[in-house]
Amino acid sequence: MKTTKSFLKMKRDGEKITMVTAYDYPTAVICEKAEMDLLLVGDSLGMVVLGYESTIPVTMEDMIHHTKAVKRGAPNTFIVTDMPFMTYHGSIDETLNNARRLLQESGASAVKVEGGKQIVQTVERLTDAGVPVMGHLGLTPQMVGVMGGYGVQAKEEREAGRLIEESLLLEKAGAFAIVLECVPQQLAEIVTKKLSIPVIGIGAGNHTDGQVLVYHDMIGYGFHHVPKFVKTYANVKDVMVDGLLKYKNEVKAGQFPEEKHSFNMKAETLDSLYG
Ligand code: KIV
Ligand code: NA
Repeated sequence: MKTTKSFLKMKRDGEKITMVTAYDYPTAVICEKAEMDLLLVGDSLGMVVLGYESTIPVTMEDMIHHTKAVKRGAPNTFIVTDMPFMTYHGSIDETLNNARRLLQESGASAVKVEGGKQIVQTVERLTDAGVPVMGHLGLTPQMVGVMGGYGVQAKEEREAGRLIEESLLLEKAGAFAIVLECVPQQLAEIVTKKLSIPVIGIGAGNHTDGQVLVYHDMIGYGFHHVPKFVKTYANVKDVMVDGLLKYKNEVKAGQFPEEKHSFNMKAETLDSLYG
């Protein structure tokens, strides 16, 4: 299994890091087969598999439940689990206990937390306690209520300068990598060059050390808004609907199940049944 050290080495060697979200057992099996470097049990699961409007309603219990399933499907892959909304902003004891549950009870290898300055100390405390932390800057969806919506972040000088500064603070606090979401590619390139830890981009251009996408978006299995920065590599939704329609039509027409799908009993048993 890859480790935080492997990701550092990949950055140094210029080998791109591949990450994708996974929320359940079959997805995890598929992702491990496809040799993803890391899996993210993202709180995007709130929208993607639970049908919520945002990541705000997602709970610790949700993250634990889904992380356990992913761990069973991908036992040899480094798993990062998002700490959900407001589970790392209360007391440090509460934060540490939440992180402990994700690593110890659920099988995550690391946690991801959103934000800059305001959580630097938290990142330090978690790292000190032995919890590998991935940062997340730029568009931070848990702030949707405060931001008033989603969109490209840090386009202006002041905001961009602050993001660079915050990325350096996160590195200093011990973060082993950061996600940069929905920022101009030029800014992502600067951050990637300034940091010695890997920068994993989503909607952040092609100059970062790696990429992450939401699984359902990239394989065409999503039913929520798909952002501009997503590339759809497959269309599994169409394949699934097609399969279901064929099943429905064959059952309605009495064509399924066929002989080969059916079980038989011995002729003499049958005779005695008919009496
Ligand atoms: O929850 C998620 O899927 C994420 C990625 C978009 C980075 O945080
Ligand atoms: Na997330």
